[in-house]
Parts: sequence; structure tokens; C-alpha cells
Amino acid sequence: MSSYHIKNLEEYFQVYRKSIRYPEVFWEEIAEEHFLWRKKWDNVLSWDFQKPEIKWFEGAKLNITENCIDRHLGIRGDKTAIIWEPNDTNEKAQHISYHDLYERVNKFANVLKGQGIRKGDRVCIYLPMIPELAVSVLACARIGAIHSVVFAGFSASALATRINDCDCKIVLTSDGSYRGKKSIDLKGIVDEALETCPGVETVLVAKRINSDIPMVDGRDKWLEPLLKKASSECEPEIMDAEDPLFILYTSGSTGMPKGMMHTTGGYMVYAAYTFKNVFQYKEEDVYWCTADIGWITGHSYIVYGPLANGATTVMFEGVPNYPDWGRFWEIVEKHKINQFYTAPTAIRALAKEDLKYVEDHDLSSLTVLGSVGEPINEEAWHWYNDHIGKKVCPISDTWWQTETGGIMISPIPFSTPTKPTYASLPMPGIVPCLMGKDGKEVQGNQVLGRLAFKFPWPAMARTIWGNHKRYKETYFADYDNYYFSGDGAMRDEVGYYRITGRVDDVIIVSGHNLGSAPIENAINEHQGVAESAIVGFPHDIKGNALYGFVILKDEALDRDHDELRREINQKITERIGPIAKLDKIQFTSGLPKTRSGKIMRRILRCVAHNTPDELGDTSTLLNPEVVQEIIDNAL
Ligand code: PRX
Repeated sequence: MSSYHIKNLEEYFQVYRKSIRYPEVFWEEIAEEHFLWRKKWDNVLSWDFQKPEIKWFEGAKLNITENCIDRHLGIRGDKTAIIWEPNDTNEKAQHISYHDLYERVNKFANVLKGQGIRKGDRVCIYLPMIPELAVSVLACARIGAIHSVVFAGFSASALATRINDCDCKIVLTSDGSYRGKKSIDLKGIVDEALETCPGVETVLVAKRINSDIPMVDGRDKWLEPLLKKASSECEPEIMDAEDPLFILYTSGSTGMPKGMMHTTGGYMVYAAYTFKNVFQYKEEDVYWCTADIGWITGHSYIVYGPLANGATTVMFEGVPNYPDWGRFWEIVEKHKINQFYTAPTAIRALAKEDLKYVEDHDLSSLTVLGSVGEPINEEAWHWYNDHIGKKVCPISDTWWQTETGGIMISPIPFSTPTKPTYASLPMPGIVPCLMGKDGKEVQGNQVLGRLAFKFPWPAMARTIWGNHKRYKETYFADYDNYYFSGDGAMRDEVGYYRITGRVDDVIIVSGHNLGSAPIENAINEHQGVAESAIVGFPHDIKGNALYGFVILKDEALDRDHDELRREINQKITERIGPIAKLDKIQFTSGLPKTRSGKIMRRILRCVAHNTPDELGDTSTLLNPEVVQEIIDNAL
């Protein structure tokens, strides 16, 4: 018997030990007993972190949608698979049963086929949080097309980069989207993006805001009439376990966003297994993750993980403060949510508001709380624990990444004792370690280091789309035979892990990964800018905010600074999206540089953090005189 569902701490340790000693037996039993395969694997695992090449369940055949939908029809066909909660409280929620989902996914899959989409083709999905988003993700998986969901808050330029990088033939979007009081012209953004995407032949447009939008002849088609005509039966494409399931872009510290490529079999097993354990989901429960499906959290823990377990999963279109700051709690009460999963940035924003927004609602259905995306600070942890969980709901502080595909380090509720700000213990099958400055593992407890992993797990990304070299360099080059996460961490006296944050130039703002290089490139496109550098600084709600240091060209020196700041942020909004806007922009005559010409970000961080006494030695700089100027003019 496999240990699919861990129920206490003793069992966790037993399962964990087994998973490490006999990983192949461990994962094979779980895969065999809890999933539907058209053909079993020839080999559970082959791996080589040098190449790197990782294969799980090689030779196995399956379709993930048979696991997420078809196999539930006999036992829970009428059970709600997805509850869709709209932006506006006056609009009715939709309850989509497994049966309805089956029909909707098959119809959508047939529409895609009708547009010539076949196994292996890339489909760009640029949709708001409406049911068509989840349905289209599954429809791609049904026919073996590779979905590349782009968060519908990204700009036209960011969208175009992602479409072109993986040669999408088709874009799925909507006439617009609602976010709180605002409506957004998504189709307009797609039109602008496609001016530089020659490979896109078709755009399918869902109706959401009923706006009157221009349609390009021969390219743009309304989705609804096509769905109406489509058959609700679509044979699933039978995939190899190692066939790609999706590409999802994440920011790197330099250059282009990285298209992380995930495959089918291992991803499914791991997303489902971790969902079951980290949320302790039981058959009648209603689970809500507030993320957007445009991020990995939504892929693994709104769509695939919950549905593979036959769960009821909530999709929310709106924002936490519309119509007011009580919206989340109103939804918890309305749908009697049992497991609630959100990000620290949301918790901090909610905690700033009047407690009456919480107290007005009955939250007694809640059993488990989750946190993801960035380190949760002590204050936010306690507010979440005291006021939302009423001190009886364990908090799963889940550490993981787009690259890991699923949760890696997290308490298992009701088993692992929680400790504020600690992600605690690894999931079964996961072997974390901390690496020291000497490039070797730091042994023992009460130590600090860089978080790496020694052994593969089923959901790890297999490559960066079109750039295997970069995959190797980014994750496998820092330490020989280890996957390196890019995060720093500490291990306490009992072996619990606490994540301290990124150690590279990625900055996490409101839970979104932002690379410094793409933002600097956007700033430098402003015609008045000669050079720029950005760093993060602590922010009450966003966790980090961005601080830019900008050298102006001579011709811009006399211009109004506030106007320049607005223009620079406008450039960033155009190139990346509003999430990457700078909170502070300081104009300076120079940037501190090493003799080899590298910007010393450490110094800029001290200025942004207002800790100039921690500057250390600046005498080796090429231009030490600039440091005092920067400190004197700090914002
Ligand atoms: O720095 C870590 C932080 O988010 C990074 C991964 O970001 P992304 O790929 O966008 O995925 C976010 C959702 C899984 C990590 O390298 N991070 C994520 N979860 C936590 C975290 N930092 C601390 N604690 C966490 N629970």
C-alpha cells in the first residue's frame, strides 16, 4: 500500500524515510494506485544532473485530463469541480460539475482541433480568471497541445516576447476583463502584441465584458459560436509521461524570461500528491486558492492538483478590495471554504484594514490555511493565525517555485507542528540541503546557506524551452550535482527550514518574481536616460518595492523630475506591466562600479534600505566619490 495520505507526524517520518531510501518504489506505488495510465512505465526514474536530463515514468502512456475529469465521472460526476466566483457581487457564481467540465473541455478541445491545433503545438492563453481559462488549459492537455498561459496583467510587449519565444500558433483571449471597478481591454493588448508576432494565425475571443472591439478578418474568431457547434466528445490524445504538458515563463535575473517546460506524468503525480497532503483535502471539502492561473500556483493548485483528486476548487475573478476589503471573507462564508491558500502580500494588505471586515463574516468552515510566494513575516503570520484561522487552523507555509512544479517544503497540517515564518520540513521525496561559501554542503543544524536539492522529484521542470544550456547554467552549474534554487535559507535546531529570500538579482514584489535586467532595459529605453540600476527595499504590504537609480543624459538634466519619473514608470508599464513600476526613482550623476565595470548593487541596496553604516569598504570602487552623493540624495 502506498502512503498517499499522511495523517500524523510519525507517519510523515516513516513515509519520508521510505521516500528517500527507496524513491523509485515510493513514487511507483503512488503512481500505480492513484492514477489512470493507458500503459505502465518501463522505468520509474532515470536522471543525470550533469546533462541535465531527468525522466520519470518513462514509457508510460496517459492523458492528464482523463485523470482530472473522466475517471471521476462514475463516482462524482455531479460533484462540483469548479466554483467560479465573479468579480461583481451582483453576478451569480457558477458551479461547474465534473460532468459539465467534461463537456466544456471536450467542446473546447474540438474547437482547437478545428483550428488546426495538434499534439505538440503551442497555444498561448491570455485570459482573465473566467471559466474559459481553466477549460482551455485542460482542452490543450486533452489534445496534447502545449499550453503557455501568460498572466493577463502583462503588457503587449511582454506578451509578444512570450508568444514568439515558443512560436505559438494561436492565442486565446477575451474581449476584456474585470478587475474590481476597472475593466481592461485585453483584446487591444493582444492586437498590439500581435503586430510583432508573425507566427500567430488565429485568435479566439471569449466574451466577457461585451465591449465593441475590432476583429481582424481571417485571424480573429468569436469563441462562443464555435463552441456551440462543437461536439462534446473528444478522444484524449494519448501522451508519453515525458511529453510536454505546458510552458510557463518566469523571470530570470538577466535577459529573456525563462520558459520552464513541464512534462505530463511526473508533474501530475507530484501536484496531486502534494495537494492532498499539504491541504489535507477530504472528499466533501471546498478548497480555494486565490492565485491567478497565470502563475504556477494556479496551474498546480487551482487546476491540476485539485482536479486530479476530484476536489471542488474555487476560481475567483476579482480582487481582495472590491467591493470592499471584506470580499475574501465574504467568499469564504458564502462557499464554506475549508482550505484557503493565499500570498503574504495579500495577508499584509488585509491586515492593514479594519478588523470588522473579518469579523462580519463566519469563517468557521476553515480548517487549513496556506501561504505561498515569498517569505511570510512574523506579524503577518500571527494576524493570519489569530484572525483568520482563529488559532485552530494550521498554516502551511509552502516553499516552491515555477521550476519545481509543486510544493517542496511545507508543514503537513495536523502532523507537522508549525513555527511562524518557517516552511519547516521537506515533502516526501525531497532532499534539501544548504550550500556554503566553499561550494560544499553545510552540515548540522542551526546553520545558514543556499538552498539546493540533491535528488530529482517528479514535477521538476525538464528544461527551458529552446535553451537547454541556460537551464543547465541557471540551476545546475553553481554546485556540481545539485539543483540550486536561487534562494538563501537557514535550518534551525530541529531541522526546520526558513527561507530568507533570493540571493540573485530577482526581486519579489507582491509575490511576483521580477528580474532587475528587464526592468533596467525598459528604463533605459526612455530617451532621457543614460543608465539605470534597480534594487528592492522592504515594503509593508508588497514585501519588497523597487528603487531605481537613474543617470540622465545631458539633454534631460533640466527637465522636471516628477514628470520624468512618470514617463519612466510608463515605459516599464508598456514593456513589462504595472507590477514592475518603481516606487522610488533617484536621479544620480553616477552608479558605483567595480573596476571591471559591474554595478555594485550591494551599495545601492544599503542606500535603498537606509542602512548606509553597513556599506563596508568602498575604496576598491572605480568611482568611490559617487557613493556619498547617492547617500546624500537618498529618497
Ligand atoms: O524566493 C522564493 C519565493 O518565490 C520564488 C519562486 O517564485 P515563483 O517561481 O514565482 O513561484 C512562486 C509560487 C510557487 C522562490 O524562489 N517563495 C515562494 N514561496 C515561498 C518563497 N519564499 C519564502 N517562503 C515561501 N513559502
